Amino acid sequence: MLKMMGRLCFAHKTALAPMVRVGTLPMRLLALDYGADIVYCEVRMDIYTHTCHISVHLNTVDFVAPDERVMFRTCSKEKGRVVFQMGTADPERALVVAKLVENDVAAVDVNMGCPKEYSTKGGMGSALLSDPEKIEAILSTLVNGISKPVTCKIRILSTLEDTVNLVKRIEKTGVAAIAVHGRMKEERPRHPVHCDYIQAVAESVSIPVIANGGSSDIVKTFEDIEKFRAAAGASSVMLARAAMWNPSIFRQQGALSVEEVMEDYIRYVSDTTAAYFIRSGMNYGNNYEVFGMTDFYNKTKAELEARKAALQTNGDQ
Ligand code: FNR
Repeated sequence: MLKMMGRLCFAHKTALAPMVRVGTLPMRLLALDYGADIVYCEVRMDIYTHTCHISVHLNTVDFVAPDERVMFRTCSKEKGRVVFQMGTADPERALVVAKLVENDVAAVDVNMGCPKEYSTKGGMGSALLSDPEKIEAILSTLVNGISKPVTCKIRILSTLEDTVNLVKRIEKTGVAAIAVHGRMKEERPRHPVHCDYIQAVAESVSIPVIANGGSSDIVKTFEDIEKFRAAAGASSVMLARAAMWNPSIFRQQGALSVEEVMEDYIRYVSDTTAAYFIRSGMNYGNNYEVFGMTDFYNKTKAELEARKAALQTNGDQ
């Protein structure tokens, strides 16, 4: 029971979907500000992340690969709401990655839907959908091995019966929720989303089902999020493209203009890369001048210099 306290709950939520190159920290913070309850990071492959070291900066925690690439960056503001998504086909390596990140994330998700060759050739992503024993091994290992909730994101299979049978097996591993992208692995975004499949899944399991795949077909405004949830009979909704086009779709009061969103985005880019831009000593002021944000640049720079000086003073004592 104690283990359950304070755990992220996936029922009745709206989530920012995992998106490669899009779901970075500034985007996730924006989505949370606008009203998303949960944010997923872009998928990170276990082979690149299991050897990461953790590097704590002025205002971020970075998971850095041996070649110095930052594989995952997070901060305290998203701590209880960020889900780390991994690509894996190996239970033991998945566990190494999950243990590495578990103190800094709210949950760990396994990608079982990516149809791209870079995932499937290693048995990851949608390749897992035809290997239920592997799915069970990965999810059970994670559920038993970490203290945070474990989830997975699947695509639907070619028949309703196969899809329902798979999710029932997945539920038995102890996962906290399952996100269902209502398209088959051969289908592209232009194909209509199969709400009937998501509904059948939601009726066949007792854990929260997160409906996904509704952008452009159904979800164009904040109000459409509820329409999609109802059409799919799901507990929660996850948005990818609609949020990529304008993350203020999560805003109950209505979407903001892209210009307003860009300004908010740039502020978060500054905040979350502050350590680098102070350390490098380079002058980034010109970039901000272009957006009419010189005052913001000067203020942020002064604040960060002051924090750095305070940290150094404390360190010297
Ligand atoms: C994706 N998608 C995706 N899915 C996933 O599980 N992990 C990932 O890293 C990514 N990356 C990604 C990048 C970009 C640019 C897009 C557009 C999509 C798929 C995504 O999460 C979602 O399942 C689909 O886009 C369908 O949802 P929407 O777009 O209809 O809301």
